[in-house]
Amino acid sequence: MSRKNGDVIIALDFPNAQKVYAFLDSFKDEKPYVKVGMELFYAEGPQIVREIKARGHKIFLDLKLHDIPNTVKSAMASLSRLDVDMTNLHASGTVAMMKAAIEGLTRPDGTRPMLLAVTQLTSTSEEVMQKELLINASMPDTVKKYAQNAQEAGLDGVVCSPLEAAIVKDGCGAEFLTVTPGIRFADSAADDQSRVMTPAKARIGGSDYIVVGRPITQAADPVAAYRRCMNEFLGE
Ligand code: C5P
Repeated sequence: MSRKNGDVIIALDFPNAQKVYAFLDSFKDEKPYVKVGMELFYAEGPQIVREIKARGHKIFLDLKLHDIPNTVKSAMASLSRLDVDMTNLHASGTVAMMKAAIEGLTRPDGTRPMLLAVTQLTSTSEEVMQKELLINASMPDTVKKYAQNAQEAGLDGVVCSPLEAAIVKDGCGAEFLTVTPGIRFADSAADDQSRVMTPAKARIGGSDYIVVGRPITQAADPVAAYRRCMNEFLGE
């Protein structure tokens, strides 16, 4: 399936900057797209983002904002000055919050990083969603509706399970982006991920970007694992 977008994003789930740089230094010929999450951002602050960017990497800043619209708008304005390529929020914050986020994220010159919404976290089961959150719909219907809310607000796509990518494309169209974690090689351990897919199957299933952590970061040869992932996902 040919797509204009698509890449493998490595989740930099490391506790400090030193470990991140040691990992990134192992890449000599390529500059992988990377994801900076809460653990690293809260430990090292915005400087870690500036340094990784200065090394020439694209960055998905995964902070999953969720607050009143005005606060999210101001926070997104701060993030827009960090020059990341992609960031995100929780779709459950409402369409009004997502619209405010877009406003805050848009720079004076009209450009902005890509903005994605988390639908339902893949750690939330349908049973818990219904019993604790009192959402009576099914998980697929909830994911589809949250994705449609994100699209209505003007976002570029959603973060979801690779198993839900087809539902999102069905509800929002092929151009609406899906970024999917929970990726494993056919011959590697699932770790704590319960619902996993291989890079090749994720592509066929409608994922535009895959987020891969341990299968690359914990591999004996991370560069070889990254290349294998790119090859399986994009056929490169
Ligand atoms: O090591 P692994 O490949 O499981 O890492 C997946 C990355 O994607 C982690 O950074 C994890 O926090 C993130 N993620 C996830 N599932 C979600 C949302 C984010 O695994 N639903």
